[in-house]
Amino acid sequence: MVADQIWTLTLQPQGWTCDTVDALSLLEAALLEGMRIPNSCRNGTCRTCMCQMLSGEISYQIEWPGLSLEEKQDGWILPCVAQACSDVVLDVPAAVNLFSEEN
Ligand code: FES
Repeated sequence: MVADQIWTLTLQPQGWTCDTVDALSLLEAALLEGMRIPNSCRNGTCRTCMCQMLSGEISYQIEWPGLSLEEKQDGWILPCVAQACSDVVLDVPAAVNLFSEEN
């Protein structure tokens, strides 16, 4: 069995990081580390989690995530149905760190 590739997910502007693997969506990986990206449906339709990818490569776990071609070209992604194919940096100013006492 081949071990999952481990990538680093970074949330900006906070600079928070966590590991992520193929089996997890970017949203799931962030939540496991207490980094709460705004979310609702978690199936790629409501667009609550929509954010911009500053760098990295992703693939989608569903065929038609709820984004227009223009939005995709502008770097918008849906992290609830996206998995990393490289280290990924997302711009999520509204993210909250559930493990931090400052929130
Ligand atoms: S949480 Fe609904 S599209 Fe991501």
